[in-house]
Amino acid sequence: MIVAIDGPSGAGKSTVAKAVAKELGFSCLDTGAMYRAIAWRALQDGVALDDDEALGQVSRRYDISFGHVEGDPVPRRVFIGDVEVTDAIRTAEIDRAVSPVSAAPSVRAALLDQQRRIGGAGNYVVEGRDIGTVVFPDAAVKVFLTASDEERAHRRVRQNVDRGIGSIDYEEVLADLRRRDAADSSRATAPLRAAEDAVRIDSTSHYIEEVIDQICELAREKMQ
Ligand code: DC
Repeated sequence: MIVAIDGPSGAGKSTVAKAVAKELGFSCLDTGAMYRAIAWRALQDGVALDDDEALGQVSRRYDISFGHVEGDPVPRRVFIGDVEVTDAIRTAEIDRAVSPVSAAPSVRAALLDQQRRIGGAGNYVVEGRDIGTVVFPDAAVKVFLTASDEERAHRRVRQNVDRGIGSIDYEEVLADLRRRDAADSSRATAPLRAAEDAVRIDSTSHYIEEVIDQICELAREKMQ
């Protein structure tokens, strides 16, 4: 069974997806981390970010995998090939590089295969931008999670402060987030949009726990 959670960056997808997975006893797949890992590898290899052919080769050459920190059921560690990139993919440089990389059709095709293979292997909460529309159009539960631009920027700043990486300048973070939303929504291949049958949840004025409960409830109804 697949629970698909899509939405713009900073809407709370990662937190919600991981908590829902924990609650339901499902695995969890962060597809954004996969695009970030390809962007990281492309920068390392000096691949031009507008070279669809070369980006496609990178995406097909390396497998992306996830690992656990001991005692934590949620797979938070990210690997591309043999290299761990858990922290390396959360920098401002990768934030910038990942938009063109995720717009490349050859990258999307390669990752689509990997995502279907991983998610098809069991019960998964899968988060991204095109999960309910393209990757798993038959997902049992589809959620489109949003929040206001300002709220999302505040959350991202707090997250960056906690992690000690990324910008902590609110205006800069807000501008970057809007730029990425525009790029994600306007690209030709698999743009960010809600599936027609997705349940839309606005997390701006809800506690994250309420959002988690609502999605778990939707999933439990389908499991009966
Ligand atoms: O969720 P995130 O911020 O880690 O995603 C990183 C980038 O990857 C973001 O610019 C959107 C893109 N992405 C995508 O195009 N499709 C997905 N399924 C997931 C992420």
